[in-house]
Amino acid sequence: MKLFVATHNAHKVREISQILPSFEIVPDDPEGVIEDAPDFAGNALIKVRAIASRHTGSWCMADDSGLEVAALDGAPGVRSARYAGEPSNTPANNALLLKNLEGAKDRRANFTCAVALVSPEGEECVVEGRCYGRIAEAPSGVAGFGYDPLFVPDGFDRSFAELSAGEKNAISHRGRALAEARAKIGV
Ligand code: IMP
Repeated sequence: MKLFVATHNAHKVREISQILPSFEIVPDDPEGVIEDAPDFAGNALIKVRAIASRHTGSWCMADDSGLEVAALDGAPGVRSARYAGEPSNTPANNALLLKNLEGAKDRRANFTCAVALVSPEGEECVVEGRCYGRIAEAPSGVAGFGYDPLFVPDGFDRSFAELSAGEKNAISHRGRALAEARAKIGV
């Protein structure tokens, strides 16, 4: 079954394809949309609505995700992709996060992923997944993307960037949200 996904992020497409292998994942860039909602669910809805009108009669999906750090009052949050400013710059984001946590004892953090779905009949719903852990003192690992080298999930002593794709997807915010999404789609 085709599943249209509102993204241009190749890393996300790869993870979604790994987690939902029974679907044909078709990326469709929601070009030009302004993600100005105050939360992940709102931004996921903005993105999926931007592509749903192009694919009536099919399932459409968008994911919006980010990192929330307890000692930073939930930042970077919905600004995760552009934490260090425009345009999105992963090394700068990671460096700023480490700088803002310099000397912090409380390094608790979680990733959140909201997945918005539009059914072939046009009904909308949003599901969410979270993964809890902590921010390391220094980056490690080369896999994954974004803040992966800095995030050590609970129960592990390795960062997301040091886990295999299977290990990350089994516990990640995106893996959990997509498992719920698959249940909603009913396949
Ligand atoms: P989005 O494309 O608006 O959902 O932005 C998500 C941003 O959050 C990404 O650019 C990353 O900085 C961060 N992020 C989301 N999920 C992950 C993940 O699984 N690993 C690392 N960083 C992530």
